[in-house]
Amino acid sequence: MRLPKTLTDAAGLVLAEPEPAEKVRLTYLYGKAWQDGEISEVGDSAPPDHPGRPPKPQLCMPADMPKRSKGSGKRRTALIHAIAHIELNAIDLAWDVVARFVAEDFPKAFSDDWVQVAVDEAKHFEMLVARLQELDAEYGDFPAHNGLWEAALTTRDDVLDRLVLVPMALEARGLDTTPATVERLTANNDIATADLMATIAEDEVSHVAAGVRWFEYVCKKRGLDPVPTFKTRITKTLKGRLKPPFNHVARDLAGMNRAYYEA
Ligand SMILES: [Fe+2]
Ligand SMILES: [Fe+2]
Repeated sequence: MRLPKTLTDAAGLVLAEPEPAEKVRLTYLYGKAWQDGEISEVGDSAPPDHPGRPPKPQLCMPADMPKRSKGSGKRRTALIHAIAHIELNAIDLAWDVVARFVAEDFPKAFSDDWVQVAVDEAKHFEMLVARLQELDAEYGDFPAHNGLWEAALTTRDDVLDRLVLVPMALEARGLDTTPATVERLTANNDIATADLMATIAEDEVSHVAAGVRWFEYVCKKRGLDPVPTFKTRITKTLKGRLKPPFNHVARDLAGMNRAYYEA
């Protein structure tokens, strides 16, 4: 089997792949090849603007999403499906960061971080799909929305906007909301899904941390003050402001200074 020559070639192949299971497999394969040094050049091939997607789920505008069903079994499956869809997008978002901003000439640690994020997201997607199968469902059974990829498109011109919106706002928001989800699942006796969500939340702390670290790196390089820069850009990129309650423990663990999100 021939490996792609460069990391950005690998990113392009993963992004273009429509089949989720194959996207996951390629992520593990190319991720390991980068980590083992079998792929060692970053290269400069541009990522596609739209990742490959399977024929199902049908993608709707967020506003057109059907209301979640009331039956508790179906509601739970729909929740797991919605998170699986986020994780699939997260795989592509990580590979997109690997390939999109090469002109910034980041140190190797930048690629290392986002390749590891892609591998983590692939693992999350795989775990959630396995859980769906235990519940007699599969990825594609429910409609999904394309909001996350819209976030990628609106921030493709500047790595600062991307880091502000994706890891520092959307993924950090995941840190805030997950504890309540885990609690609810536990209260409903779905320990398997609760454990899975808790494992995912642990990894997500490191994704937010990578976002903060590289955001501050770029700010320093451009001579920008991080907190006001974050605040200006978040107003521009995030529809709706940052909403409490904030998970201070997890955000602190991710190295996110409270000044970023407190008024
Ligand atoms: Fe994830
Ligand atoms: Fe993540």
